[in-house]
Amino acid sequence: MIVFDILSIFPEMFFSTLSSSLMKKSIENGLIKVNLHNIRDYTGDKHRTTDDTPYGGGGGMVMKVEPVANALKAVIPEGDKTTVILLSPQGETFKQELAEEFSQYSRIVLICGHYEGIDERIRKHLVDREISVGDYVLSGGELPAMIIMDAVSRLIPGFVGNSESVLYDSFSTGLLEGPHYTKPREYAGWEVPEVLLSGHQKKIDEWRRRESLKRTLQRRPDMLMQAGLTEEDRRILKELTGDPEFV
Ligand SMILES: C[S@@+](CC[C@H](N)C(=O)[O-])C[C@H]1O[C@@H](n2cnc3c(N)ncnc32)[C@H](O)[C@@H]1O
Repeated sequence: MIVFDILSIFPEMFFSTLSSSLMKKSIENGLIKVNLHNIRDYTGDKHRTTDDTPYGGGGGMVMKVEPVANALKAVIPEGDKTTVILLSPQGETFKQELAEEFSQYSRIVLICGHYEGIDERIRKHLVDREISVGDYVLSGGELPAMIIMDAVSRLIPGFVGNSESVLYDSFSTGLLEGPHYTKPREYAGWEVPEVLLSGHQKKIDEWRRRESLKRTLQRRPDMLMQAGLTEEDRRILKELTGDPEFV
């Protein structure tokens, strides 16, 4: 089981994610546990203030150090080695390898910022990792926290109905996954590839591998360098590119 502790000033944003689909199921089945902590509960004034104007002037507000520090102190038992992650567009970019690494942890704290972000002293003194979900700026860390929780949770055995399917997902193999089809066989004149209907499993597997290589070549050729390709993969790529020197 992985325990996620979320620190946020808008914990209600998580309600629909946690009460739907596989997240809901995995909470019910005890695969994950999510504790929502409202940072406002750790303020010391009657207005429950979590932000203030920036030193040095300029626009926007900054989340105050004390409420976040108090929340962390209350949430993490003394001496505990829990990993504390700050969501930030300036952090390390979240990738499948990081999801795999985090899925080995037993407990993860995710701190969601808002406004201009959180007072720098939190990042400097109380955070282990700073993670970004991409090169764009969102208004808060809640959506990034949900992305990380989802990507990490689906790697826990039992989260996805067919655990094997996760092994072949894009990025897990170092390649993008090939296309999928389901019934009907034909729609508006658009046919399902014949090989998928053949019942010949070896041919189907070969077709899937080829499509996966083709898709990666077309969309993310940068991934091929680290994909751990077999001799047969290299032969297929040479054929696909028409370049006998390829890879
Ligand atoms: C409006 S952003 C602050 C951006 C900050 N002023 C900057 O320019 O780097 C507010 C909060 O949203 C979250 N956030 C925004 N974009 C994010 C991203 N790409 N990845 C992770 N968190 C993000 C962070 O928690 C951040 O503190």
